[in-house]
Amino acid sequence: MVEFDIKLETNHLSEKDYDFLCRLVYEKSRIHLGPEKKVLVASRLAKRLRELRLPGYAEYCELLRSPQGEPELRYLIDRISTNHTHFFREIKHFDFLREVVLPEWQAKKRAESDAFRIWSAACSSGDEPYSLAIHLAENLAPVAAKAWEIEASDISTRVLDLARQGVYETARLTGVKTEWLHRYFQKGVRDWEGHFRVREELRQRVHFHHLNLLEGNYPFTKPFQVIFCRNVMIYFDRPTQETLVAHLAARLSPGGYLMVGHSESLSGVKHSLKLVQPAIYIKPI
Ligand SMILES: C[S@@+](CC[C@H](N)C(=O)[O-])C[C@H]1O[C@@H](n2cnc3c(N)ncnc32)[C@H](O)[C@@H]1O
Repeated sequence: MVEFDIKLETNHLSEKDYDFLCRLVYEKSRIHLGPEKKVLVASRLAKRLRELRLPGYAEYCELLRSPQGEPELRYLIDRISTNHTHFFREIKHFDFLREVVLPEWQAKKRAESDAFRIWSAACSSGDEPYSLAIHLAENLAPVAAKAWEIEASDISTRVLDLARQGVYETARLTGVKTEWLHRYFQKGVRDWEGHFRVREELRQRVHFHHLNLLEGNYPFTKPFQVIFCRNVMIYFDRPTQETLVAHLAARLSPGGYLMVGHSESLSGVKHSLKLVQPAIYIKPI
């Protein structure tokens, strides 16, 4: 096998190839990469080129264009998307759930067996849906009662694998109260020192799906009382945001809530929802 001594500089990514990558990523995921992301993209891909033993970015683009390009495209989107997240991020949404949404649900649910359904629509490595599971276990019904259901999805298979494992470094868990750490996590020992794993009972209550939000053919049959779609819309342009919000609104039950990231206002986006407070929208009844 030929060994390449590859010393890639990020400026080796030509404008033409970067343009191609931007168009491809946009076409498949609607993630918009501007010129300011070029260095970031090049540096994230440099390691991949070494792994694939490709001499340069032009050859990488050739691979993506070829019939073998499909799995690589999935990898590319994985590397490009930003997966930053943490437990109990943007706590105001959790407060609103406890103070407004759950009491409303208790008052209006028709039967004891009705389950409260919530979807974490860009769940990254699982911090958000597991935070929701803890929150519901604490404020609605214990894990064993099956009074709530959580669906979680992401376009990135890499983060979904992490989410399913549910193992987190202690530093990631600063938002989790000590008593919850005891109740809902197992402390790692030996090789896993410095880590916690979400207990199996809780892991089983979160269903993970590989899903591109922009495809709209979501695999859920029952509507949701709440959808968390946070810190992902920021990557999409306005027409894409409109399509996405329409898809999500269709999956909410009347009176259901959509939570978006606090830096993601829907102002300027045409939609059928009503603003309740910053970053919280309701589907009118
Ligand atoms: C910054 S993280 C947000 C995680 C979490 N919602 C939070 O607020 O902490 C954004 C996530 O959106 C996912 N994503 C990007 N484009 C997507 C798409 N078209 N469909 C589904 N997920 C997507 C990324 O893979 C990433 O994990």
